[in-house]
Amino acid sequence: MKKIIIAIDGFSSCGKSTLAKQLAKELNYVFVDTGAMYRAITVYFLRNNIATDNTKQINQALQHIHLNFIFNKEKGSSDMYLNNENVELLIREMLVTQNVSNISTIKEVREFAVAQQQQMGKAKGIVMDGRDIGTTVFPDAELKIFVTANVDVRVERRYKELIVTDATITKEAIKQNLLERDHIDSTREISPLKKADDAIVLDNSFITREEQLAIALQWAKERIN
Ligand code: DC
Repeated sequence: MKKIIIAIDGFSSCGKSTLAKQLAKELNYVFVDTGAMYRAITVYFLRNNIATDNTKQINQALQHIHLNFIFNKEKGSSDMYLNNENVELLIREMLVTQNVSNISTIKEVREFAVAQQQQMGKAKGIVMDGRDIGTTVFPDAELKIFVTANVDVRVERRYKELIVTDATITKEAIKQNLLERDHIDSTREISPLKKADDAIVLDNSFITREEQLAIALQWAKERIN
C-alpha cells in the first residue's frame, strides 16, 4: 500500500502529539514528536550553560548531542533519549518548557533538528508533529493538518495533565507560558509557526479525541488510496 507523510502543526498544547500518536498507531506508521527533540536539546543547553548568543559554543554543543527515540513497550510509544539517557520525563518539566521556545529560535539548532527529521521521513509512512513540519521539514507532505483549539480549552487540558505531578501549578501560570510560547514560535525569524497554504485546519476545541481521530483518519485514507 502507498505510504505517505503526515505533517501535523499547530500551537502549544493543542493535542497535536495525541492525534499524531493515534494516527500512527491506526496506520502502523512511525510517530515523531519533534518538540521532544527541541526539548532534549534544551536540556543539554541548560545543563552545560550554553550561551544562546555564542555561535561557536552552540556549534560545539550540537556536535556533542546525539538524539534518538527508543520504543517503550510498556507505554506503547517512544521515549526521547539524549546521549543514551532517557530524558522523557525531564523534558516535560517547567524549566525546560520555559526555555525551549527561545532555544528553538536558534538557526543552528533548527538546522540540526530539521536535517534529522528529514532523514527520518525518507521512507515515508511517518506522522510528525511540530511547528514547521508542513512548511519547512516536509513541504511536499501528502497530508498537512494544522491543529488549533481555544486557549482556555488548552489551559484546562494542560492543567489536568500537570496537576497530577505538580500540586503547585496554576492555570494562570500555564496560560502565561502557552501564550508566550505561541508568540515566540509564531514570530521567530526562521521557520515560524504558520499554517502551510495547503494545510487543513482542524479545530478540536469542542470535539472528542475519538472524533478528531476519525476526521484525520478519513483525510489520511483519502490520500493513501
Ligand atoms: O510541541 P512541544 O510543546 O513539545 O514543543 C516545544 C517547543 O519546541 C515549542 O514551543 C517550539 C519548539 N518546536 C519548534 O520550534 N519546532 C518544532 N517542529 C517543534 C517544536
